[in-house]
Amino acid sequence: MLQYLQQLWETNSLSPHGICLLWRPELIWTHVAADSLIGLSYYSIPLALAYFVSKRSDIQFGWVFWAFAFFILACGTTHFFAIYTLWVPDYGTEALIKIVTAALSIFTAIALWPLLPKALAIPSVDTLRQLNDELTRQIGERNAALAALQAEKTERLKTEDMLRQAQKMEAVGQLTGGIAHDFNNLMTIVIGNLERLEDKFRDDPAIARSVKGAMAGAERGAALTQKLLAFGRRQPLASRRINANELIHNVADLVRRAVGDDIAVELELADGLWPIETDANQLENVLLNLAVNARDAMPQGGNLIIQTRNVTDPAIAETTSASGPYAMLTVSDTGTGMPPDILGRVFEPFFTTKPVGEGSGLGLSQVYGFVKQSNGYIDIVSTPGKGTTVRIYLPRAKPQVEPAADAPAYPAGLAGPLGQPG
Ligand SMILES: Nc1ncnc2c1ncn2[C@@H]1O[C@H](COP(=O)(O)OP(=O)(O)OP(=O)(O)O)[C@@H](O)[C@H]1O
Ligand SMILES: [Mg+2]
Repeated sequence: MLQYLQQLWETNSLSPHGICLLWRPELIWTHVAADSLIGLSYYSIPLALAYFVSKRSDIQFGWVFWAFAFFILACGTTHFFAIYTLWVPDYGTEALIKIVTAALSIFTAIALWPLLPKALAIPSVDTLRQLNDELTRQIGERNAALAALQAEKTERLKTEDMLRQAQKMEAVGQLTGGIAHDFNNLMTIVIGNLERLEDKFRDDPAIARSVKGAMAGAERGAALTQKLLAFGRRQPLASRRINANELIHNVADLVRRAVGDDIAVELELADGLWPIETDANQLENVLLNLAVNARDAMPQGGNLIIQTRNVTDPAIAETTSASGPYAMLTVSDTGTGMPPDILGRVFEPFFTTKPVGEGSGLGLSQVYGFVKQSNGYIDIVSTPGKGTTVRIYLPRAKPQVEPAADAPAYPAGLAGPLGQPG
């Protein structure tokens, strides 16, 4: 072996490669130029590969790049050595360099084949783009589903809130109605007996004065009881088929007088408004109640608009849970409006923001009770600083059996004696 290696480096009997080329300059320098360029290129490629692999730590099969780098480095060295052997016959070292190059080539060549299936399994850029698009689509769908879920949750919370409010009003209404009913009977007895006393002591001024005072108090109590009965949906309703437009026309003068000259009252009444079946006196009372509230909300004056409209619109049903055909009565003002915390409580009996002695807080409670008792719906929209709109939906009256016996229009003069508003 030693002898073999010694012979490998024995150069005395050898001549440089240039001799084979007869030292012809064009051959020598063309070889030198070509080998130099190949060698330099081969040396630059491993540098690029090494730089790439070191920067991309995520790259798969990084070792293959290193195998290529060493293999190409060895190839480059063989070319530089070919230049050297043009003048120096060191063919032993050249052979060893070729052996190393061969080993690296064989290793790279063999290692490359098993790698092919794995390399082919790596998704192409196109596949990755498609997957990315699909992923983006799925994220979009998921975001839309989340938004829908959120909207549904908000809607559910709103509905739950409305339900809680309705249950509260129902409970308070039942309690109030029950108490008011009994109280009403007691007031009837008190007033009846006071009337008898009034008759009996007509000639005794001192007693007559006391009885009169007691009577005034009892009548106030009775009026209060009536309001509570209305809220508790226990007031007797004298329902008839009427046209709300005509009722509004008839009550308009009273409304104008109630709100004063600083407030302009406008009527926007829909043609062909559906008839409703309700207690006309109570409905007038409702309009006056709302008008007085609007007046109080517009101390500097403003506009009060009373509108009517037929409603079957499901969008309206959504906000009010009203779904059938309704005649809608709207009372809007350009007053102070209400913040949400007040708006949420306006139907509660005795809730008022007015100074003591100016408001009983029973006006809207009465309106609420009447509308509910009439199988209708009420809602209020209010914006602080802009105004308030109260919408009342009363069910359309059932078609009459005999068309000829069409119910008389709301008779003029029914705007007669009204309950005290508010
Ligand atoms: N149009 C409106 N604009 C602004 N706030 C209003 C309006 N209507 C009602 N409110 C508010 O709702 C509260 C309750 O009204 P409601 O009619 O039940 O009682 P009141 O007007 O205070 O007293 P009452 O009607 O018994 O004289 C009022 O005190 C007021 O704060
Ligand atoms: Mg009021």
